[in-house]
Amino acid sequence: METEGKVIKCKAAVAWEPGKPVSTEEVEVAPPKVHEVRIKIAASGVCHSDWSYLYEAGKMSPRPFPLILGHEGAGVVESVGPGVTKVSKGDKVIPLFVPQCGQCERCLSSKTNLCTKNWANTQQGVLADGTSRITCKNQQVHQFIGISTFSEFTVVPEDNVTKIHPDAPLDKVCLLGCGVATGYGAALNAAKVEAGSTCAVFGLGAVGLAAVMGCKAAGATRIIAVDINPNKFEIAKTFGATEFVNPKDHSKPIQEVLRELTNGGVDYSFECVGNVGVMRAALEVCSPAGGICVIVGWIEVEELTLAPLDILLGRTLKGTYFGGWKSVEAVPILVEEYMIGRLLLDEFVTHRLTLDQVNQAFDLIVRGKSIRAVIEM
Ligand code: ZN
Ligand code: CU
Repeated sequence: METEGKVIKCKAAVAWEPGKPVSTEEVEVAPPKVHEVRIKIAASGVCHSDWSYLYEAGKMSPRPFPLILGHEGAGVVESVGPGVTKVSKGDKVIPLFVPQCGQCERCLSSKTNLCTKNWANTQQGVLADGTSRITCKNQQVHQFIGISTFSEFTVVPEDNVTKIHPDAPLDKVCLLGCGVATGYGAALNAAKVEAGSTCAVFGLGAVGLAAVMGCKAAGATRIIAVDINPNKFEIAKTFGATEFVNPKDHSKPIQEVLRELTNGGVDYSFECVGNVGVMRAALEVCSPAGGICVIVGWIEVEELTLAPLDILLGRTLKGTYFGGWKSVEAVPILVEEYMIGRLLLDEFVTHRLTLDQVNQAFDLIVRGKSIRAVIEM
């Protein structure tokens, strides 16, 4: 059935209000407007931040509800709106919550990937004209960071999508839409890990494991994986971790343990949890002489306290968003790195679920049972 230009009725997981499970609903997805693309989503990873915006709303900047979460997806272009030149019907694509318009001041700068196009409206869950393309029961449903991949169809701006290799397996490469790209880029782009260095990665979820993989790709000699869940250590080895430390096994603070283990501190540390206490530990574990601490874990409203001496001798504390990748150009390259075996993705996928099972995926996250659950539409 030809759907171009028509409203599509399909299933989506709608979050009606914060703190409540999502429910599977029939939604209407409008055709794409000017410079927009309608995508048939094939698969979507379930990211910790999807859960956080629903269940830890107080720790995050407020998002408008009702909302369709999901921002780590892959699919096929169903149709394009007027003026779209960058993708066409039938292309395999990954929607991007960080766009790359290629024209704004930040896109033209080599220092950042934070394209300003559509930023303000997508943070408010709507597209450029101030509305969402998705409705349910005659009510507008907001699109989480402009994306909404927990839906069989979605509409995104042309600059928030990238065309990938036609043979790419969508149920795997969807992970490059957020978590894996973020952790991998934290090591390669934000820290710029050097060969022969010592690294510590706090938190062995998908982002942390991808940071481990990035440290290995950069040639780090020692990669110390830190987590309070010892079940994560075996898998961390797969991605290149060389040592494991469980803070629960020590009576001393973890930063002291790691400084002793590394003769005064590591060259690079990564906080992949989103906890201010862990952020402090990650900073203090860096060598005072030029160590670099990258904050990757997501938390918005809590405060991180520092003493001047924490950085005065020469430590660097920095953050990264989407691993620093210029999204439209970088993601297709990461897809091809996966296809030639240089980057692992299959190993992140611990569970395969259906769109009706998003709440189960959240439950797996809370219980620390999954690395990535992938929802297949
Ligand atoms: Zn831009
Ligand atoms: Cu994410």
